[in-house]
Amino acid sequence: MATILLTGGLGFIGSHTAVELIALGHEVIIVDNLSNSRIEVLEGIEKISGVKPVFENKDVSNKLDIEQLCSKYKFDGCIHFAAYKAVGESVNKPLEYYQNNIASLVYLLQVFRDKGFSNFIFSSSCTVYGQADEMPITEDAPVKPAESPYGNTKQIGEEIIQEAIKAHSDLNAISLRYFNPIGAHESSEIGELPLGVPLNLVPYITQTAAGIRKELKVFGNDYPTPDGTAIRDYIHVVDLAKAHVKALDRLMKHENNDPYEVFNLGTGKGSSVLEAINSFEKVSGEKLNWTFAPRRAGDVIEAYADTTKANEVLGWKAEKNIEDCMRDAWRWQQKLGK
Ligand code: WQD
Repeated sequence: MATILLTGGLGFIGSHTAVELIALGHEVIIVDNLSNSRIEVLEGIEKISGVKPVFENKDVSNKLDIEQLCSKYKFDGCIHFAAYKAVGESVNKPLEYYQNNIASLVYLLQVFRDKGFSNFIFSSSCTVYGQADEMPITEDAPVKPAESPYGNTKQIGEEIIQEAIKAHSDLNAISLRYFNPIGAHESSEIGELPLGVPLNLVPYITQTAAGIRKELKVFGNDYPTPDGTAIRDYIHVVDLAKAHVKALDRLMKHENNDPYEVFNLGTGKGSSVLEAINSFEKVSGEKLNWTFAPRRAGDVIEAYADTTKANEVLGWKAEKNIEDCMRDAWRWQQKLGK
């Protein structure tokens, strides 16, 4: 059994990862400042796993908070989810994004180095590839200049980790580049909790079907894709959570070839916005109210992962398809109600 620090562990991906780690008998210490999450998530995790993880209401962009945490517990690893993640907001609040996302990472790495802790997993994003030249996207595809301060925090974050590891041989890390995480736990005890009007496609779909939003706008019907709408790789959050456990295990067992590794996490299958809507309608039996609207600024045409490296090296493969995702997202939305 290992003791794992989950920063942002009450968030969408963090909470699902907590469930998977507990299922394997690990002790999970969740630190979260509740800036974009709710304390009730802790009960959801407990209902599923039968264990209430330790919760620390602290801010990982405050070095003192991290020092206190790392003096109180001896961590065998850390999965660092805590970050601001709204692309549009980051354009208007770049300094807040750099302060929150970068300071937390630097402080965590400093304290981990000073305490002699290792095994660090970083939440990165497929946004680092921008519009990749070739599909599917391998980990070797070039990192393109970031389109937003948010995206830049992920690129800079990866660089910081790499350089820290070069200088401090006790540190090791894996960056996981997520494609589009959606869905919810199939128990409906935990799921995504977007604040206000959702910016992402699937919560907007489920809220429209639930009558909270009037109509979904499909951004762009003139993309060079088979049906004219943009293509993404939608991955079930439980599959994503399982990949974190595999990555952490690899570091803890010293199976990593390199002290710093990068993996794409997706299904390998691209779906257009219209295909996503069709999948939702099929599994929910609901007719979705939607209309075409102009392209959204900053959107790429298509992005889907080559998952060969994660399949072969981590021994991980997404098991759920987009219909499973939509079924679980809809069940979760129905539980949340209006
Ligand atoms: C998917 C597709 C939209 C809403 C973002 C971040 C990325 C990441 C995941 C961050 C696009 C279309 C959407 C709507 C629509 N990680 N859409 N109507 O933009 O691929 O990725 O989330 O935390 O960094 O950029 O995801 O869900 O917003 O959009 O037509 O109301 O759905 O244009 O083609 P995206 P998304």
